[in-house]
Parts: sequence; C-alpha cells; structure tokens
Amino acid sequence: MPQKLRSRARPKKPAVVRTVAALRRSVGRLRAGGASVALVPTMGALHAGHLALVRLAQRRARRVVVSIFVNPAQFAANEDFGKYPRTWDADIAALAALKVDLVWAPSVTQMYPAGFATRIEPAGPAKAGLEDAFRPHFFGGVATVVAKLLTQVAPDIVVFGEKDYQQLKVVTAVARDLDLPVKVIGGKTVREKDGLALSSRNAYLSPAERAVAPTLHRALQDCARQIRDGRPIIDALAVGRAQIERGGFVLDYFEARHAETLAPVRSRSDGPLRLLVAAKLGRTRLIDNVSI
Ligand code: PAJ
Repeated sequence: MPQKLRSRARPKKPAVVRTVAALRRSVGRLRAGGASVALVPTMGALHAGHLALVRLAQRRARRVVVSIFVNPAQFAANEDFGKYPRTWDADIAALAALKVDLVWAPSVTQMYPAGFATRIEPAGPAKAGLEDAFRPHFFGGVATVVAKLLTQVAPDIVVFGEKDYQQLKVVTAVARDLDLPVKVIGGKTVREKDGLALSSRNAYLSPAERAVAPTLHRALQDCARQIRDGRPIIDALAVGRAQIERGGFVLDYFEARHAETLAPVRSRSDGPLRLLVAAKLGRTRLIDNVSI
C-alpha cells in the first residue's frame, strides 16, 4: 500500500525563491560539494520548447535553476506585457515533473526596485536590422534582464532557444563582452507536428490563423532548400516572401544572414547562413528561423 501511495503522489514541487538574498542562499546550497549549476531563463507560460531546454540543461549541469519573470523592460507600451499568458500552477507542475532544483521568480519591484537606473544597450547582433528594426528597445530590455539574471544566479551554464535566434546571439555577445563567467548554450527549436514553432503567443491564434501558421516554417524550409540547391539568394527570398504573403501574413522581414554575425549575405559562400522570418497573422506576431 505505501508503495502505491508513493507512486501516485505528485512529484515534489521545486523550491521557489522570490528575493535575491534567498536566491543566493539557495544557489549556495545547490553548489555544495562542487555541483555545477545551469540556468534556464523564461517568462513562464511554459511549453515543450522550454521543457526541452530544461532537459538540455540537466544533461549539461548537475543542478538546474529556472527563472520565471515576465520582463516589462522588453515590452513596448503597445505590446502584450499586461496580457502575456501567466500560467503559474501549470508551470510549477511541469518543472516539478522534471525535478528542477529551484525556481527564481522575482517580482517586478525585486528586479527593478525604485531608483533602478541602469540599462545595457547591446550593439552588434542586436543592431542587425531584424527584430531590432521592429522592436527597437527589445534587446536593451533582454540584455539588461539577462545580465541581471546571470549575476544573480551566477550559473556555470545558461541555456537559450534557437527559436529566438537573434536573442541567442545577443545574449552570447553580452556574456562575452561583460566577461561573465558563463557558457551560453543554444537548444534546438521544438515544433508542432506541422512545423509551427512552439510559442506562448500561439495561444493568441484563432483556429483559422492556426491552420495557416505553419506556412511560415514551410516557406523557410523551401527557401533554404532552394539556396542549398544553388538558386541565387535574392530569388529564393522573393519566392519565400510571396509564399508567406499569400498565406495572409503581413511580413516584417524574411532574410538570409550570416549565422554568427547576422550580417547581410549575398551568396552561399558568405556562409554559414541562417534564414530568419517575422510576420504578423492578424494581431499575432510570429518569428522563426532555420539553418541553410
Ligand atoms: P521566453 O519567450 O519565455 O523563452 C524562454 C526561452 O525558451 C528562450 O531561450 C526561448 O528562445 C526558448 N524557446 C521558446 N520557444 C521555444 C521553442 N519552440 N523551442 C525551443 N526553445 C524555445 O525569451 C524569453 O522568454 C525572454 O526574452 C528571456 C530570455 C527570458 C528574457 O526575459
């Protein structure tokens, strides 16, 4: 009987800390005996993409900390900070099932107390003319909060998704430029069966929009294949842009870039290359990318 009870019991919830002081004490305990620590930064509303990053972190470090913080500094006034999905109970249950060691969930005033007056302004990949052209202060907000998360948790490893490819390059540059003693690791994009990249924002799509949404990934794949087959980049991009617009998207960008610097490229020999797209479907903005 006790055996049965145990197997039915819910997995133990991870410890949740809400102040920097409590975080430091907990991470200190997690490090006992020299254990390595990985951080997976998130804004919550966790899906299988986030959880894949957690599992990657668990393979690379002994202890895993997940941060859940919807960061107001990376949302513009007209963006969805207020209505960004918040699914705390489900998030904690998912992290418990993965046996995550610690959840760092500061309040906005804990992260940005009265008098907070410092902002990191990343350049390089943050000024590539992709996301930054449409969300001008997004990467400043991301870089600032990620630099804070990295100094708060002081992990050995931090894991980000390739889904937000420009963000991955920006945070890698921030960690390097600020000499933060952390290894930045990228995790592959997790997709629905039809190719749509998992995103918290997919919840905003109407059924009709959801049916069209995989066009984005299909266009990326078709275009990447054409470029690999030797079609001039400029022609392959034109076909891809038309394919996406025919699907009813309003395109922000559809570009081939150098996979590391995100600089514009002319031919395949300028590579390694990455194709990146952002487009609006109704009121929902989707982004995706693939390697070429
Ligand atoms: P969020 O959108 O919650 O994403 C957290 C992490 O999950 C990011 O590294 C993101 O790239 C990754 N991710 C999202 N969808 C994914 C998918 N389908 N497959 C694999 N990984 C995926 O990105 C942020 O939060 C914030 O900007 C943050 C870095 C936490 C700073 O506030």
